[in-house]
Amino acid sequence: MKIAPSILSADFANLQRDVQLVEKAGVDYIHVDVMDGQFVPNITIGAGVVAALRPVTKLPLDVHLMIANPENFIDDFAKAGSDIIMVHVEATPHIHRAIQMIQAHGVKSGVVINPGTPVASIEHVLSMVDQVLVMTVNPGFGGQSFIEECVGKIAELSAIRKENGYKYEIEVDGGIVPETAEKCKAAGADVFVAGSYIYSAEDPTQRIDLLKEALR
Ligand code: DX5
Ligand code: ZN
Repeated sequence: MKIAPSILSADFANLQRDVQLVEKAGVDYIHVDVMDGQFVPNITIGAGVVAALRPVTKLPLDVHLMIANPENFIDDFAKAGSDIIMVHVEATPHIHRAIQMIQAHGVKSGVVINPGTPVASIEHVLSMVDQVLVMTVNPGFGGQSFIEECVGKIAELSAIRKENGYKYEIEVDGGIVPETAEKCKAAGADVFVAGSYIYSAEDPTQRIDLLKEALR
């Protein structure tokens, strides 16, 4: 089981400190939420921030692009030092090409589905990707409540993986706390993004320990 703190809820004036804090606590990825104010109703950070973080952590940077027509920015995020780049199927008519572009940079690729999007919409790219991200909130903001209906999609993806011998990891993002993480784990999830649960706490390290315990 992997834990991927989302820096969306970190202190943007102290990103290096907040990234190193969770690295020290023993997490697996740093989850970077990129929003363009178009695909989602919020604007966050660009490739420049990924490039700035690259030298301050050894952890893989798990970059979640919530931007329209992500093909236009894949080169920038790959060159900035992303280890995994994930694109939403809803954000482009050319999801297959977007994944090919990510792979051409030698970067791991992921595809993301919103709560209202069925697994069937990504069926034809599942053989290509390293990661599938199941959104368990509507993307745009941290601190929202977990949408229970999404758990069935994790189980579906887990069954498809087994049937076909696919290798992707299943990641969940949104409203993750120990209780919801356990449900996702039982359905077949491997990677757990948590933003506010970790960074809004007085003691983020303790929250990471509690998540690990729940996922043991
Ligand atoms: C939501 C982002 C998430 C967000 C999760 O659009 O993709 O990564 O940071 O935040 P929490 O864990 O607070 O729901
Ligand atoms: Zn995210």
